[in-house]
Amino acid sequence: MFYEPKKKNHGLPKNPFNSLIVPRPIGWISSADKEGVHNLAPYSFFNAVSYSPPTVMLSGGVGSAADGMKDSIRNIEATGEFVCNLATWDTREQMNRSSMSVPADVDEISLSSLTAISSSIVGAPRIQEAPVHLECRYLKSVDIPGWTEVDAYRVIFGEVVGIHIDDDFITDEGLVDVAKLLVIGRLGYNDYTRVDKDSLFTMDRPG
Ligand SMILES: Cc1cc2nc3c(=O)[nH]c(=O)nc-3n(C[C@H](O)[C@H](O)[C@H](O)COP(=O)(O)O)c2cc1C
Repeated sequence: MFYEPKKKNHGLPKNPFNSLIVPRPIGWISSADKEGVHNLAPYSFFNAVSYSPPTVMLSGGVGSAADGMKDSIRNIEATGEFVCNLATWDTREQMNRSSMSVPADVDEISLSSLTAISSSIVGAPRIQEAPVHLECRYLKSVDIPGWTEVDAYRVIFGEVVGIHIDDDFITDEGLVDVAKLLVIGRLGYNDYTRVDKDSLFTMDRPG
């Protein structure tokens, strides 16, 4: 089949786009507003974009919420700081719950039955239940124009300035034990995948 996204002529019951770029890592983003109210939400338009300095991006809709902006995006731009928490099998239900659309003054960390702990460098909180935290400083925003105002997205770039890894997930050889972390990734629709010892394989690079 072939279709042109703008014409929406795929003829399928659901937009297939999100099922074609898979699996996507989930940036489970904690932030705080200027008054210190905590916010937490998953973003699968999320990735690492460079090594040195380590830099990440997330992309959030800016036209769909009632006030036109996701709380995470607003908080990051207002405070200049955020944390990416690693979403794993053990916290999958809390991760999903934290995607609920609630008013900006609701603490979504408590709402998701999770524990906020202080970061080492940034003011944004970390999620104690997550085994990895990337403390980030906001770098810049790039607007992705939508076909309509409701479609518009904003990409946030942040430099990772501090990294916490639970020592239980470092092997005796000094490697991150990805199979033990049981990281989850986003597929299309409401589907997810899990990295474990059966799904992981290794290939040496040629040359
Ligand atoms: C696994 C998952 C991934 C998501 N990825 C995104 C995303 O990349 N961009 C986005 O705008 N919303 C995404 N959402 C929806 C947001 O999490 C949801 O709108 C949330 O309420 C935003 O919270 P905030 O306003 O506190 O930032 C995702 C939801 C789930 C469950």
